[in-house]
Formats: sequence, structure tokens, C-alpha cells
Amino acid sequence: MTGPRSETVLGIETSCDETAAAVVAHGTEVRSSVVSSQIDLHAEFGGVVPEIASRSHVELITPVVADALVEAGVEGPGVAAVAATVGPGLVGALLVGVSAAKALALVWDVPFVGVNHLEAHLYAALLEAPDLELPLVFLLVSGGHTLLVAMEGHGRYRVLGSTVDDAAGEAFDKVARHLGLGYPGGPIIDRLAQDGDREAIAFPRAMPGDNLDFSFSGLKTAVVNHVRQNPGVRPEDVAASFQEAVVDVLVAKARRAADEIGAKGVALGGGVAANSRLREAFLAAADEDGRPGYVPSRAMCTDNAAMVASCGWYRLQADGPTSLAVGADPGLRLG
Ligand code: KG4
Ligand code: ZN
Repeated sequence: MTGPRSETVLGIETSCDETAAAVVAHGTEVRSSVVSSQIDLHAEFGGVVPEIASRSHVELITPVVADALVEAGVEGPGVAAVAATVGPGLVGALLVGVSAAKALALVWDVPFVGVNHLEAHLYAALLEAPDLELPLVFLLVSGGHTLLVAMEGHGRYRVLGSTVDDAAGEAFDKVARHLGLGYPGGPIIDRLAQDGDREAIAFPRAMPGDNLDFSFSGLKTAVVNHVRQNPGVRPEDVAASFQEAVVDVLVAKARRAADEIGAKGVALGGGVAANSRLREAFLAAADEDGRPGYVPSRAMCTDNAAMVASCGWYRLQADGPTSLAVGADPGLRLG
């Protein structure tokens, strides 16, 4: 496993509805990143159907991995390791990527590295901005999670706050479904909100307790009730006002978290980090506080395998290979 390619990691991501593979060198140089989205397959059901996701991963995993290797100009046995997301996520979906990664690692006689999907989302920022100074506060907002994380070193995390009910992305998806806008709701609401007035409706900003936790289910109910009571309301105004309420709370708590731990910077991660208004407000707040703020490119925010390969590289340096006895862990946590 020595040779010119031995500093590259093949990453595989199948935790939800994206089948992805990527080749990353030295943890930060993306040689290829292939993402095959199943959104069209799930859209008619208004959400991800686990059985359909698993079956689709099985069909796509081989061509997606082959594409990533060809695009990077890398021969399989020349990679330093094969990294795959082991959790959290849908168990049947995770198993496809984990089994494929272990099989390739065995055939090529290279290490397997199991990666935590949430940690991988943090590496999306570190991959693009390796010089970010620690400690950092990450606001990690996806379809399944809403977390404020203090990163003190590679592999050293502290969860400072999380949602007590819905994740931020889940709130976007549920509100969009109630408004009959389609799936996934985040990008649709983001687009619609561009033509709306974010001050049109004063939706509640839930600040549960005097801590760093979040709650979005009350806001979702408030939106549904408002639309029911005001059938003539402009969907653009609902989208913009709802989005503003989510962004306000996310940014306020990220600032507070950064103050509390004396963070050297703040960074965004996860699918909701692709949101235009969140990106703008997050960077404006960091600027106002005199703290470097970093927002990854949109493609790096949503699920991809480059972040998995990057994270796998650092895990390999720190902990060595993962035992092949380690399997998919749908409830895996961070820290
Ligand atoms: O990180 P991700 O790709 O998958 C998970 O690990 O969950 O996040 C998907 C979530 C979905 O809820 C989707 O609606 C949301 O990210 N999302 C957005 C935007 N793009 C994706 N939310 C708000 N605005 C966007 N532009
Ligand atoms: Zn994700």
C-alpha cells in the first residue's frame, strides 16, 4: 500500500438519500466527489422512504465508487484507506456503504475507517479552510440534527446544545409539506423566501431555557395555524418570515456559544447551512463580533463523501484503522 497514491482516502457516504463517493488527498485536496441524489425517488412520498433508499444505494454504489476512482485517476489498491459513514443514519442505508467499504478494503488490503456522519459534516469546513483556528464553535444544522459543537482539536468535541424536538432541516421539510410546496423543503423555502417579506409575520422565536438548546416544533405549529387562519397569505411571506425565525434563533445561540467558550472562530455545517439567509446572517454576526466566520460551499454543506474521506484521513492518523467488527450504528452520537 505504499506508492504515489498512498496519501489518498476513498470516502463512501450512504447514511440517508445520497449515494456518494470521493477521493481526497492529505485530508484536504479533493480529487473527485461524486454525489448521486435519490431526491426524485422519494419526492412523491414527501420524505425519505428507508426501503427505497437502501435498494437504490445497492444499485448505485458500484458505479458511484467507480466514477470517483476514475475521475481522481486513482487505482483502488493505491488508496491509503477506505472510509465510510457508520452512523448516524438509516440502518439499511448505512449498511450498504459500510459493507462496500469493508469489501474494498479487504480486496485491496488497505485499512477500513468508520466515520461519524456528524463529525464528517464538521470536516466540510476544515477541508475547505484548514487554517481555521481552534477552538471553533460549529453550528451543525441538518435534516436529522441541530447541534452547537465546540471543537478543541481533531477528535475533541463537546456538544454545547442541541434541539429538544425537531431538527432545523426537519422544520423546513415539515413546513414545506404543510404548505404543499414539495420535498425537500429547505431549498424550496429558501427560493420562495427571496420574493417574500421576512418581517411580514412575527413568528415565535423559541429560546427554551437559558441554555444553548433549540426547539422548532412550536414554530412549525405556529406556521401551520397562521396559514389555516389566513388562507390568503402570500406563501413567499410565510416562507421568508418562517426562515427568519429559524435563522434568528440559530445565529443568536451560535454567538452565545462562541462567547461562552471564547471561540477563535465560528463555522457552519450540514444541509441547512446551504440556506442563503442563514449563510448571510451567520457571516454578518461573526463580522460584527470580530470573529472569523466560515461557511462551506453549498455542495460541501449537503451530504457528500469528500467530507467523509477528509474525516477518515484524520481519524486514521489519530486512531489507526477501524476494526472490521465495527458495524453500522444508526444512533451514533458526537463527543
Ligand atoms: O445534511 P443533509 O444533506 O442530510 C442530513 O444529514 O440530514 O441535510 C438535509 C437537510 C434537509 O432537511 C433539507 O431540507 C435541508 O438540509 N436543506 C436546506 C437547504 N438545502 C438543504 N434547508 C434550508 N435551506 C436550504 N437551502
Ligand atoms: Zn448530513
